[in-house]
Amino acid sequence: MDTNQTILTKLDVRQFDAKKVPAEVKQKVLGAARASGTGVNKQHWRFILVQDRDMIKRLSEDSTSGSWVAGANFAVIVLADPTLGYHLIDSGRAIQNMQLAAWDQGVISGLYTGFKEDRMRKDFAIPSELKPTVVVGFGYPVKRILGRKKRMPLPELAFIDRYGNKFEAKKLS
Ligand SMILES: Cc1cc2nc3c(=O)[nH]c(=O)nc-3n(C[C@H](O)[C@H](O)[C@H](O)COP(=O)(O)O)c2cc1C
Repeated sequence: MDTNQTILTKLDVRQFDAKKVPAEVKQKVLGAARASGTGVNKQHWRFILVQDRDMIKRLSEDSTSGSWVAGANFAVIVLADPTLGYHLIDSGRAIQNMQLAAWDQGVISGLYTGFKEDRMRKDFAIPSELKPTVVVGFGYPVKRILGRKKRMPLPELAFIDRYGNKFEAKKLS
């Protein structure tokens, strides 16, 4: 898939098939996380790839808004240094890279940010200096994905030169 097509078609999907995702795809997903940029190239993010079925069940139980991760083939817990003002931006960049790399391989994913943090820290040995920012669950889809992105039109979201000057294709120089 070309990059633009990958970006425009990717959806967050949370219903997974039981089929195993091959090691090469997991490697690509983590490679995509590693390739993402961080403020001042700090590379403060860390990633826990969760693939053991019991650990995935635990991850689901430690969640408040992502119990669906129980059905994922694997998940990635993203950790970041919360003392850095841009740690959530850096986490977001890594997440999007991972999701797009997976989508390109036919692997779907969904993310969540609601955790029972104390339990999660214990279960996954998360060090105190790092904060879990997001969990992304990955797997193959159960059926062909027919969804479509629901997004506001660009003229409601974007402006040219000054806020208020609506974006319109004909105004592009
Ligand atoms: C910062 C952030 C937090 C999110 N938290 C959750 C969550 O806790 N649980 C969940 O199921 N989805 C969560 N999502 C997924 C969004 O609901 C999803 O990205 C949005 O519906 C767009 O999906 P689409 O790209 O498939 O249209 C989160 C997304 C973002 C960007």
